[in-house]
Amino acid sequence: MSEKLWNSSQLRRYDLDLEQIPRLHYTDPKVDELISQNKPVLITGSNIINTATNVWTPEYLEENLGNAGHTVFLSKNHKFKYFDESKMLSRSNPMGIEFIPPTRKTRMKVGEFMKKLREWKPGNERLYLQQPLNNTIGPQLVRDFLHFDWDYLNSKQEKHKWGELTSNLLLISQEGNVTPCHYDEQQNFFGQLYGYKRCILFPPSDFECLYPHPVHHPHDRQSMVDFDNPDHVRFPKFKNAKGFETVVEPGDVLYIPIYWWHHVESLMRGGPTVSVNFWYKGGSTPFNQQYPLKDYQKISIMRNVEKMLLGVLQDPKEVGPLLRSMVLGRYTD
Ligand code: FUM
Ligand code: FE
Repeated sequence: MSEKLWNSSQLRRYDLDLEQIPRLHYTDPKVDELISQNKPVLITGSNIINTATNVWTPEYLEENLGNAGHTVFLSKNHKFKYFDESKMLSRSNPMGIEFIPPTRKTRMKVGEFMKKLREWKPGNERLYLQQPLNNTIGPQLVRDFLHFDWDYLNSKQEKHKWGELTSNLLLISQEGNVTPCHYDEQQNFFGQLYGYKRCILFPPSDFECLYPHPVHHPHDRQSMVDFDNPDHVRFPKFKNAKGFETVVEPGDVLYIPIYWWHHVESLMRGGPTVSVNFWYKGGSTPFNQQYPLKDYQKISIMRNVEKMLLGVLQDPKEVGPLLRSMVLGRYTD
């Protein structure tokens, strides 16, 4: 491991029960063991993102990202809780949920974004650029990207029977920003390129402790619990959540398994951070499916049940009462 260039005072404080995610050299056979068990692992010493590690600095990106507009979120506080606009109430979506977005989504050229970062002072809105890498990126970044260790990436994809690589998201964050706890429906190799991020993960079996919003809510896949100020009356099982954490440094690649919860924070007073993630579809259901099903497979089933109920009831407000009358006293103790 390289010299530690951060200290624990740069981490936000949460009342959580946490243990460390294993950090393993990319040649260690345990890496594949953990991936095959859908367990997180921090992969060190690899060449996966070598051509961008400590190369894709804010200055280099300002020079080379390209002149197109990029998606930037603006927040009045340090939290950037994701929301799905397609699930918001609108004229074209009368079944959507009435909702005031917690952040503002806008588009900016990278130069404008970097200038705002440089000139930022307390009281200003915080900024977070989150842009899928696409055909608008400049030629130098394309060259760097093509020289990622695709042999390694492709070998993992094949070995673990993941589906296709769907996208790479570039994340340029202001120090101290937080992506609150959520899960994604894809496998993720999360590559850290510049600066330091702390990642806190929870297994899919902590579903009941983390209280996800309903599937039809714009905050689908996001925990309802505010880690800064947890409401233990509304969310009594939150105290039972058992997390796994690590601080990723430039060159590290963290495997975030499909359906695993994750909270990501750029360290405080650590300067801006740059990351790129690799999202892969999960594998298809094997012919010889093993039972009982895995926890993450059950989450997929629950999502489908919720979607199906909304489809037949045609009103999000009816989903909860139907589920309650189906379960209470019959499937509860
Ligand atoms: O802020 C982040 O880096 C979040 C990444 C993710 O959710 O995959
Ligand atoms: Fe995520």
